[in-house]
Amino acid sequence: MATKNEPTSGLRKLLEDQLADIYYAEKQLVKALPKMVKAATNEELRAAFDGHLEETKGQVARLEQVFEAMDMPAKAKTCPAILGILQECNELMEEYADDEALDAALVDGAKKVEHYEIATYTSLCAWAERLGLDDVAGMLKENLEEEQAADEKLTSLTEEVLSETGANDEEEEEMVDADKGDRSPNTSRKGTKGSANGIAKKTTGQVSKR
Ligand SMILES: [Fe+2]
Ligand SMILES: [Fe+2]
Repeated sequence: MATKNEPTSGLRKLLEDQLADIYYAEKQLVKALPKMVKAATNEELRAAFDGHLEETKGQVARLEQVFEAMDMPAKAKTCPAILGILQECNELMEEYADDEALDAALVDGAKKVEHYEIATYTSLCAWAERLGLDDVAGMLKENLEEEQAADEKLTSLTEEVLSETGANDEEEEEMVDADKGDRSPNTSRKGTKGSANGIAKKTTGQVSKR
């Protein structure tokens, strides 16, 4: 096994390289998540972000154990991908700060982060196993499973978060009514508040014109 001063190559080098990438990403997330906790309006979403912030701090610590187990110093390497995802997330948070779709935007940004992490940890686990680094693979799998659970939690919150927006199930009922012969233009959603792009209204309009 390579030591601190020995040059490495191949899969071992790739593992070290991507460990530095995810270590950087996790540290960025420790900084970014408190903003998302603060921005979320839905209680459960806020609690989910808060819980994942604590988990993420644990993941940083676990990665430091991984570096130690690999007999190398903890090293972070700038990850432009996570910076890009977080930049988009910040832009959405600003643009939708006072919008009913803010929580939906936060779920979207957070899921993109989780999927990036899941992709990375899936590869890291496979590489560590291949290299016979079972203890390292075990620790990475713990991080992977936390990311998968966080992603599932976000998925389970999607419906609730969407119910906060004007585009709710009422729309479908109106469409059914329209099909039954109620073609009144008044079926359009007058009460839709601040629909980000007016898609809901447009859909109803098309139905009422048939
Ligand atoms: Fe993470
Ligand atoms: Fe995560």
